[in-house]
Amino acid sequence: MNMIDLIKKAEISHSLEKAEIAEILNNGEINTELFAAADRVRAKYVGNEVHLRGLIEFSNTCKQNCCYCGLRRENLNVERYRMEPETVIEFAEKAQKIGYKTVVLQSGEDNYYSLDKMERIIKGIKKLGVAMTLSVGEKTTEEYKAYRDWGADRFLLRIETTNKALYHKYDPGMDFDNRMRCLNDLKTLGYEVGTGCLIGLPGQTAEDLANDILFFKTLDADMIGVGPFIPNPDTPMSGDKGGTFEQALKMVAVIRLLLPDINIPATTAMEALNPDGRIIALQSGANVVMPNVTDVDHKKLYLLYPGKICLGESPEQCIGCIGRKIRNIGREISAEPGFRKRTAD
Ligand code: 5AD
Ligand code: SF4
Ligand code: FES
Repeated sequence: MNMIDLIKKAEISHSLEKAEIAEILNNGEINTELFAAADRVRAKYVGNEVHLRGLIEFSNTCKQNCCYCGLRRENLNVERYRMEPETVIEFAEKAQKIGYKTVVLQSGEDNYYSLDKMERIIKGIKKLGVAMTLSVGEKTTEEYKAYRDWGADRFLLRIETTNKALYHKYDPGMDFDNRMRCLNDLKTLGYEVGTGCLIGLPGQTAEDLANDILFFKTLDADMIGVGPFIPNPDTPMSGDKGGTFEQALKMVAVIRLLLPDINIPATTAMEALNPDGRIIALQSGANVVMPNVTDVDHKKLYLLYPGKICLGESPEQCIGCIGRKIRNIGREISAEPGFRKRTAD
């Protein structure tokens, strides 16, 4: 099939073979058509509204040692912090006051946050009437169940890569099967589940990325966040080549074609590689932005990769800035919490 017909097929049927996905990802000639098709599918299934999620980075302490990540435990150049539950709730209150309908709580894998502390945080935030997403890594089934019972609505846990050999190479000490167990638990417990992958890891092929997308479909993920791998100078991967903006944008577009009604964020890592990265992503399939609502002092200590955006801007400045950019391209800021609506079934 020629490439244009392949994109048409994806736009109509939302289904492609692995080899077809890889072919699209490998082809540099059809990007304009690909991005336009993804933008049409986005408009048809999730509409013109952009959902904003306020991101609180509440602890940069992590027991894991992912080779690509600046927060890995062996990176001794990081000044580590942990917010107390009351502080986390204060940030959430602030986010709610400036208009956020969802807060996302993200941290490294940090055992400091016992069940008791998590209960205080989750219940305290749910009282504010916002939707809550957790992104705190691998936990036991019992912990996921407790968070859900206390009111957590959504959970983000990227699979990072479905290539097991690459996963074990870049996530030493972690177990791919346990990560799958986590994602399946989260689905079973009734969370909206977000996952995603890194793009451009050394050794990762277009077939690997195609498998990632087919996995997102099989899992029936509600949200997919992807971004380029950006080499961090404080990690063992400092000398490696990173992913490109174009690769990441093509992934966003193909994901929208194949999972038409899910939420797809325009990620900050994409904007780190291109000053208009989030807006371009919003015009190529994405419908969510997750501005940071942490204060500048903590924000600059939460460095997964170099070039993090908005390091000097306050939460108020960011919501104003991104709101203007979104309206400038003719899109609206949603007044809803932005749960996935199954418009494709
Ligand atoms: N470049 C891009 N993304 C990264 N992440 C961690 N380190 C990097 C990096 N160097 C991503 C991982 C993780 C998410 C929170 O940040 O995919 O799941
Ligand atoms: Fe920790 Fe997440 Fe970074 Fe891995 S990617 S080192 S789990 S913060
Ligand atoms: Fe932070 Fe633009 S979104 S300054």
